[in-house]
Amino acid sequence: VQEQALDRDCTTLSRHVLQQLHSFSAEAQDLSAIMNRIGLAAKLIARRLSRAGLMEGVLGFTGDVNVQGESVKKMDIYANDVFISVFKQSGLVCRLASEEMDKPYYIPENCPIGRYTLLYDPIDGSSNVDINLNVGSIFSIRQQEGDDLNGEASDLLQDGHKQLAAGYVLYGPSTMLVYSIGTGVHAFTLDPSLGEFILSNENIRVPEHGSIYSVNEGNFWQWDESLREYIRYVHRQEGYTARYGGALVGDIHRIFTQGGVFLYPGTVKKPEGKLRLLYESAPLAFLMEQAGGRASTGTQDILDVVPEKIHARTPLIIGSKEDVALVESFIQKQA
Ligand code: AHG
Ligand code: MN
Ligand code: MN
Ligand code: MN
Repeated sequence: VQEQALDRDCTTLSRHVLQQLHSFSAEAQDLSAIMNRIGLAAKLIARRLSRAGLMEGVLGFTGDVNVQGESVKKMDIYANDVFISVFKQSGLVCRLASEEMDKPYYIPENCPIGRYTLLYDPIDGSSNVDINLNVGSIFSIRQQEGDDLNGEASDLLQDGHKQLAAGYVLYGPSTMLVYSIGTGVHAFTLDPSLGEFILSNENIRVPEHGSIYSVNEGNFWQWDESLREYIRYVHRQEGYTARYGGALVGDIHRIFTQGGVFLYPGTVKKPEGKLRLLYESAPLAFLMEQAGGRASTGTQDILDVVPEKIHARTPLIIGSKEDVALVESFIQKQA
């Protein structure tokens, strides 16, 4: 048992990636190194979040509005820049596309050698920062195709099956990093005394069904009638419970653990919904499918959606297979 305990304590992120790939190929080494850098970014962000209220530059707004039309939080920018500086020194990533940047950021010294692109939401659920509730980071890794000399990054406008890896960091009571490189979903917990992410849950499987439905019912009257019909159905049925934290990563992590379904539907005014495909829905769909769940726009698998622009949005229905299918049945009946 002693040996097993020790072995467990030594299963760090980079080692686990190499184990998963059973190979020391160049790509395996690259992904292992990239995941390690993401772990460093997560530690830097977690450290700063833990000092909110004790130092400047964590709480509150910058006063700017980002390409999404959202008021930018100081943590949005800090976290955005952490990922850039962490990958500057990596030599692997040539381009970073982020919720907080209109256009991708190129790291000239890495291009075109570093043939990877990091797509990320540096702080997800940033409205939670000032109230000390969980926030997250979401990331997706794609292979750069072509030299993108005009800086349009048009090779990123492809479906979610192009993702090599995806994951999220949950800054909660503990800091967890959950990732997949296509060989299952694995969770690591940051051990602050070691400064390492240590394997805490391997091969996560989302239950086929769960009692949770997670949606902002404040938008009830803005949805299509089919969504209202679904909500009336779960209101009438025994055995459903509502949970909504207003931060996607925490709400999705609950679904991975307990099953159920998260919905961010489109509204009549904004049929494409709020969540962004390339660095929110697609990476989470990659993970959810790897864990035996599903992710849909309501009429199409998220991973099949081809975006027209980097900050494209889609409706998102994601979680346990049976629960996603039930929502789709309401939407498709009305279609
Ligand atoms: P972000 O903070 O990265 O802009 O994302 C916020 C998103 C997501 O975290 C959450 O699911 C959703 O906004 C909540 O939106 P509502 O407040 O409209 O429910
Ligand atoms: Mn935002
Ligand atoms: Mn987000
Ligand atoms: Mn964000």
